[in-house]
Amino acid sequence: MTSLIAVLPGDGIGPEVTRAGLAVLRAVAARHALDLSIEEAPFGGAALDALGAPMPPSTRQLCVDADAVLLGAVGLPGPPPPDPALRPEQGLLDLRALLGVYANLRPIRPLAGACEASPLREERLAGVDMIVVRELTGGIYFGDKQEGEDAASDRCAYSRGEIERVVRCAARLAKQRSRRLCSIDKANVLATSRLWRSTASAVVADEFPGLELEHLLVDAAAMRLLTHAADFDVLVTENMFGDILTDEASVLAGSLGMAPSASIGDGGKGLYEPIHGTAPDIAGQGVANPCGMILSVAMMLELSLDSPEAAREIEAAVAAAVAAGARTPDIAGSAPPATTEQLTEAVLARLGGAPAP
Ligand code: IPM
Ligand code: MG
Repeated sequence: MTSLIAVLPGDGIGPEVTRAGLAVLRAVAARHALDLSIEEAPFGGAALDALGAPMPPSTRQLCVDADAVLLGAVGLPGPPPPDPALRPEQGLLDLRALLGVYANLRPIRPLAGACEASPLREERLAGVDMIVVRELTGGIYFGDKQEGEDAASDRCAYSRGEIERVVRCAARLAKQRSRRLCSIDKANVLATSRLWRSTASAVVADEFPGLELEHLLVDAAAMRLLTHAADFDVLVTENMFGDILTDEASVLAGSLGMAPSASIGDGGKGLYEPIHGTAPDIAGQGVANPCGMILSVAMMLELSLDSPEAAREIEAAVAAAVAAGARTPDIAGSAPPATTEQLTEAVLARLGGAPAP
């Protein structure tokens, strides 16, 4: 059966990294005889320009019909327009809600070569291998907003059900990994965090016997990510804390450009996007790091297209290409930097265990 992949390149460096991701997807699809139908659609600022809305009806329908959605990045330089309907980021929030992808998986795995670009000392990075599960369709991102000249507010609300389902997702992952789960909140201040904490405890106690659950305050977690990152395995947290902590955690892998993500819900459908933004400062120069996108393609193959072997091949090819020195400026260190295309070619050359050139 044909799988339909909706591709939304978006803005800034989005189209450049998407091109790289698609080249890799097409290569593994050919090797594994995957039957894919790949359809591109305008999204974000690009769609605002062309069709007057960040998620035009035709794009929305394509995403509803698709088995998986691959997204570059959205956002426009400059101050956000006052009307939310005209903000590229609103399109992204609407898409996440539309697809019901409440769990956003963000693995952080430093690769040899890339992590040398990290400002953190090498011993801080040894043994780091974590996955952050960020709640993606609730909390302050989606609460009622009041915006006046002199006062503004954003409501943060969570229901028990919203917390239970994302904690379950994280606990299932932890069960497959080290059997350790760390739930991050601000229960000393926030009511939503106290519900988060008691709900996480109840889910683990009732449904995951043998799983070790630790609760950590978000400020302490932000520090521990820099001092004892290797102690973490699976982390679960609410929407905004997850957004902030994962940009921080990406530094452990050398660069924000290295980090992929998968957003999933109850069905097999998923939304796959690198965690970086549009990087307007380097857009159009052909030097954006495509690894976050290429590794997001790997997550899509594993989680929505039932092709874990293809996913492992991509991960191995990225690791080998980066280790061999194919590194964009963000991870090049003092070595001569590669372009997006050179790094992508280096990955393609290593797919399927082809000998290194
Ligand atoms: C992310 C991004 C988005 C978010 C923005 C672009 C709305 O920062 O995916 O991490 O905050 O969720
Ligand atoms: Mg973010």
